[in-house]
Amino acid sequence: MSETNGTPSAWDEWKALERHHAEVSDRHLRDLFAEDPDRGRRLSLDVLDLYVDFSKNRLTGETLELLRALARRADLAGGIEAMFRGEKINVTENRAVLHTALRAPRGATVEVDGHDVVPDVHAVLDRMGAFAGRVRSGDWRGHTGKRIRNVINIGIGGSDLGPAMAYEALRAFSDRSMTFSFVSNVDATAFAEAVHGLDPAETLFIICSKTFTTLETMTNARTARRWCLEALGDDDAVARHFVAVSTNAAEVSKFGIHTDNMFEFWDWVGGRYSYDSAIGLSLMVAIGPDGFHDMLAGFRAMDEHFRTAPLEHNLPVTLGLIGLWYGDFCGAQTQAILPYNQYLWRLTSYLQQLDMESNGKSVDRGGAAITDYQTGPIVWGQPGTNGQHAYYQLIHQGTKLIPCDFIGFARPSHDLGVHHELLMANCLAQTEALAFGKTAEEVRAEGVPEAQVPHRTFRGNHPTTTLLVKKEITPNVLGQLVALYEHKVFTQGWIWRINSFDQWGVELGKVLAERIVPELQTTEEPDLRHDASTNELIRRFRAFRRA
Ligand code: F6P
Repeated sequence: MSETNGTPSAWDEWKALERHHAEVSDRHLRDLFAEDPDRGRRLSLDVLDLYVDFSKNRLTGETLELLRALARRADLAGGIEAMFRGEKINVTENRAVLHTALRAPRGATVEVDGHDVVPDVHAVLDRMGAFAGRVRSGDWRGHTGKRIRNVINIGIGGSDLGPAMAYEALRAFSDRSMTFSFVSNVDATAFAEAVHGLDPAETLFIICSKTFTTLETMTNARTARRWCLEALGDDDAVARHFVAVSTNAAEVSKFGIHTDNMFEFWDWVGGRYSYDSAIGLSLMVAIGPDGFHDMLAGFRAMDEHFRTAPLEHNLPVTLGLIGLWYGDFCGAQTQAILPYNQYLWRLTSYLQQLDMESNGKSVDRGGAAITDYQTGPIVWGQPGTNGQHAYYQLIHQGTKLIPCDFIGFARPSHDLGVHHELLMANCLAQTEALAFGKTAEEVRAEGVPEAQVPHRTFRGNHPTTTLLVKKEITPNVLGQLVALYEHKVFTQGWIWRINSFDQWGVELGKVLAERIVPELQTTEEPDLRHDASTNELIRRFRAFRRA
């Protein structure tokens, strides 16, 4: 694997960006646009179904050139090749990182330890297609012979957020005669509400877990089995009502699901990069195999772009570098994702895991502490225009620097007259208002009383990137969008020299929870050996629960 040694903040390219920031930091977007009437067109990229305008960011052509020099110094191109070639860039788990192989075309070759994985990927896709087709057509029946009408995906994190987000995004393409729900939380409410009013004889559970040991998923899966078998009264019903998606065949069998009903994926697919693997089975049942393959084609097109486009035309690289500019040189802590599309209402939750679990790291790939630069941002947001009536106030007039991605669509999914133009007018107006604001002079000229002028002034200069999709949301477009963000995250993680593909930070809480469970359950007085706060909270919980 080619790598450039040393902390990036010590590189000349990094220092050049620090100096450049000192020179340009007081420049307002108003000035940048006034100086360059062509800026809107010049600072944009047209890639596949996306037109991306990044001109309303606090940067110049020179900023981008310096950022690209940093990417070259980090050997980003070498990193991209290493990932696509299947090198073991997940160094702490000694694994390849090959979600891109999940969408490789039939006949391509991608090797892991000398084994071509593409035929395996397509064998599973074919099995998924056959299964999804049988459920959709009614050929796959429940234990009593009834048709399956409800599909419940049980999983958490990457085994939930991807399929749940994509199902919501592509609802318009789904089989409306069926219901689809997603149970992740170990709070029994999630399960109870998902099965409320459902007939177990018509319900199929897809248990998704890479490890098949995750506490929340296994607890919900056992509850689902009980719910199903209590109604159907026969252990054989499991074979018709439960299928598994996992890398762990032994645990799947132990749970009681025959491996004939298991759909496999591999340790070189990270959980948060997995919904285009068999983890997307519920989505495939919903939108059909053709829709799923169309989505894979969208992923693949963005993969090819990322792998082959030069840095200056490379969309994921450009978005990654802009994000790095704000976090490392301008002091931003967060990144807002604001889709102007109701179908994308879960996109930000999905991207939270993708970005924050990947790049929320503070040691580099070699294990050295990162002390003098920022890694991944806090990702947040909700669909517009709802956010406009809630938290946009802070973006416009608060004290924080918040780079925002606005995602809009040229065509509506439902053409109901004026709605789409209203939606998109709001999207575009917000980016305009954020960039250019309204000066005190402009406010005064409207006759506003002097005491109110400061309150009604918008300083502007708030950075936004607008992703304008040339059509409506489709499976293919969704694939392009998700791959774009996957590769943006890769770009940043590579330059920060972190391992974007492990997640050791989730372990400690899991271990401590396992220790606390018996202390909450026991009827004896437990011997509590936590800190004073945790001990007291456990005592109070036990007392309130008994009362
Ligand atoms: O706890 C975090 C995590 O390991 C995620 O990375 C993963 O997506 C999720 O849990 C679920 O894991 P699994 O698919 O093994 O149940």
